[in-house]
This record gives sequence, C-alpha cells and structure tokens, in this order.
Amino acid sequence: MSTMQTLHLHANDADLARAAGLLQNGDLVAFPTETVYGLGADARNGKAVASVYAAKGRPSFNPLIVHVPDVASAQKYVMWNETAQLLADQFWPGALTMVLPLREGHGLSSLVTAGLDTLAIRVPNHPTAQRLLELANAPIAAPSANPSGRISPTTAQHVFDGLSGKIAAVLDDGACTVGLESTILGLTPDVALLRHGGVAVEAIETTLSVGLPQETPKTITSPGQMESHYAPTEAVRLNVSSAMSGELFLGFGTMQCDLNLSENADLIEAAANLFDHLHQLDKIGKPIAIAPIPQTGLGRAINDRLRRAAAPR
Ligand code: TXA
Ligand code: MG
Repeated sequence: MSTMQTLHLHANDADLARAAGLLQNGDLVAFPTETVYGLGADARNGKAVASVYAAKGRPSFNPLIVHVPDVASAQKYVMWNETAQLLADQFWPGALTMVLPLREGHGLSSLVTAGLDTLAIRVPNHPTAQRLLELANAPIAAPSANPSGRISPTTAQHVFDGLSGKIAAVLDDGACTVGLESTILGLTPDVALLRHGGVAVEAIETTLSVGLPQETPKTITSPGQMESHYAPTEAVRLNVSSAMSGELFLGFGTMQCDLNLSENADLIEAAANLFDHLHQLDKIGKPIAIAPIPQTGLGRAINDRLRRAAAPR
C-alpha cells in the first residue's frame, strides 16, 4: 500500500468537520472513544472497510464493531428487542457492544460482518466520538486502531506509532478514560458473553437478572472460528483456472467467469466484494470454483477466508 501523510487533527470544529469529510470520502480516520482509539471507516463503503483490514495488516477478516450516535441509529441496522433496550438504557452510551441480528435493508458492507447475519454495535460515550458520528452522519466501523497483533492504542501517539502513513488522519483528544476494549455481549437471542471489557459482567447480570456463564468467554478472533460462520452450502474449489461444467466460477482479474471479485485485479476491491459475491453464488446453489488470488497484502486475508469456506465440513 502506498504511504500517505497522516493528518494530526484535534477536537475543534474545523478539524472535526475535516475528519467527518474524510470518512464520507471513504478515507480512514482514527478517533478517540472512552475505551480505546478506533480506526474508523464508513461501514456502508466496502472499499473503505477493506482499507481498514489493509491498514491493520490483519491476516483474516474479523467482523468489526459499528459505532452509532444513539439507539435510534442502531435500530436502522439491527433487530432490536427488549433485552437490548434494557441494556441500552443502562449502559449506552458506553463500553458495551451488543451483537444482534442484522436488519433487512441495513445497507452495510458485508465485509463489516465478515458475511455473518449478526452485527456488533455500540454507542460510544466520548464527546468527540459523538460529534464525529453526528457530523459524518454515517455508521462507522471501527476496530481498535493498532496494527494486527499489537496492543490497543489509548492515545493518539500510540496510533501514530502503529499506523502513521497508512491512514488519512488521527483525531487527537487525549487519553482514553476506560483504556480497555468494550465488553461484547451476544443477544442472538441467547445472552452470551463474547469478550470481557469495560463494562463488568456483574453489572450486566444485575441489569438482566440472569447469571452469565462463568467460563472464559469464547473470544471470536475470526469468523472461521465461530459456530455460525458463513460457508457456502455447496463445495468450493480454490486456485482453479477455469470451472468444470456444473460449477459457478468466481474470477479475479481479466477472465471469463460468473462473477468477478475485481476485473482490475485490485485486492481492496476484491475484499470489498468477497462476501457479497460468495452469497450471490451460494444462492444459485451450485458448486463454486474460485480463481487464484495473489498471496500479498489483503490477498492473505482473502485466501484465509476462502480456505475456511472450502474446508471439509
Ligand atoms: O472498545 C472497543 O470495542 C473498540 C472501540 C474502537 O470501539 N473496538 C474494538 O474492535 O475492540 P475490535 O475489532 O478490536 O474487536 C471487535 C471484536 C471482533 O474481534 C469480534 O470478536 C467481535 O468484536 N465481533 C464483531 N462482530 C461480531 C459478530 N457479528 N459476532 C460476534 N462477534 C463479533
Ligand atoms: Mg483489537
């Protein structure tokens, strides 16, 4: 990926407007939340979301948390229920992420959820994050703003240390007060603790009047490790140069095929299209053959996901 000058922005009106404009333009902006700094991208823009994985150097497509300014905005993207409302009343804005079923017509890039039919969503409790979300007027997908495998950033300097030259801007508003990622709770519909974090489990148990399993939560590091992970129904063959009869062919680069991940052999575009195209071909209900994807840059994450989709089951 080409390097760029990463802007150092601050929490004033002019800089906030600039940060919002960058997000609307599909660029990446790191911004403060009360938990950790997030690496933000417009969650509806597949290329912007693909750039997040590229900037972080993630070797696989973990689903991302989407950030919204309030409950009403959350309801545009997920199927709301009473438990969610109870938790939102108590913990939003704040360090609780809820995983809920995606709502029809949500308009989000399928890369945000890594092809799942659930969405992790959160209303952050940080005035600068709140203002940015309102100005950008967009759902913002944001993992922690660190290179893959490194520690989550709690100051703007941490973000510069890890991602300088790889993202458009860092919006600096000092140190994060919680300093620990959000607690992730699955509500699909059984209540399940998916990650410990800024909101104590005991507080959630009190609010819901239920006990949560005491064992270590199953941290989901990639969709392939999730029970509900997405894989096509029919067989998948990888690294093939042409399809056999009866197969659908998913191409990459200039070639004859049923659907093409990127005619220009652009890995960012291919990542943005990956889950959509797999879903489209899966719906047709035939075995799927897939062209070779170069094992460089985002190609590593694409190939990781494709290997999982093709694994014997
Ligand atoms: O505090 C935080 O949560 C920070 C700030 C920026 O909001 N964000 C954060 O994101 O920690 P990230 O990408 O580092 O962790 C998100 C995790 C994923 O690794 C995955 O485990 C879980 O959220 N996740 C996301 N979508 C999910 C889904 N649909 N089902 C289950 N788990 C999901
Ligand atoms: Mg992280």
